[in-house]
Amino acid sequence: MFEKRFVAICGSLRKNSRNMGMLRCAAEVMPEGSALEILNIEDIPLYREDMPKPDSVRHLAEKVREADGLVLAVAEYNYSYAPAIKNALDWLSKEKDSLLAGKTCAMMGAAGGMGSSRAQYHLRQVCVYLDLRVLNKPEVFANAFSSAFEARGGVADTEEGRALREQIAGLMKALSERT
Ligand SMILES: Cc1cc2nc3c(=O)[nH]c(=O)nc-3n(C[C@H](O)[C@H](O)[C@H](O)COP(=O)(O)O)c2cc1C
Repeated sequence: MFEKRFVAICGSLRKNSRNMGMLRCAAEVMPEGSALEILNIEDIPLYREDMPKPDSVRHLAEKVREADGLVLAVAEYNYSYAPAIKNALDWLSKEKDSLLAGKTCAMMGAAGGMGSSRAQYHLRQVCVYLDLRVLNKPEVFANAFSSAFEARGGVADTEEGRALREQIAGLMKALSERT
């Protein structure tokens, strides 16, 4: 039985996503007593005010509501966060019980040379309004085009990959301790 249960959302929907690879790694290195479940947002439609709430959103909201905290893997597109993650947060923000408010949140990401830092800083701004408690440290910015990753997106068993795994473990430890 886990004392603390976290859920994760990945900002990239592609099959060989490095960000998804980072989340799979995070689930493996969770500290004792904590667990991480990666949520599927592939079926979440683009938010529309006049659309009845789909089952995929109902399911996502339920999982996030029950969780003690949230992990966001932030892919960077054109100097900002890729839209899938914002879309999921937009749907969640419309739940009547403000289910995101006050939840602890850990952020990390993989992208080009700046390691998704620009995307993460943009997303941090969004999290202010959602009243998510985003950890400031440690920061995890990974180079998606480095040997830290396998071709299929997993964190590799290379020097860079092992260093990244350690960084992710540090972030998950901080998340667990501060929740
Ligand atoms: C439309 C698009 C725009 C991108 N823009 C940026 C960018 O501004 N900065 C960056 O570092 N990487 C950029 N990239 C590269 C992605 O961040 C990189 O492919 C990353 O691996 C995507 O995450 P994923 O592997 O989880 O899918 C862009 C990729 C796409 C498809």
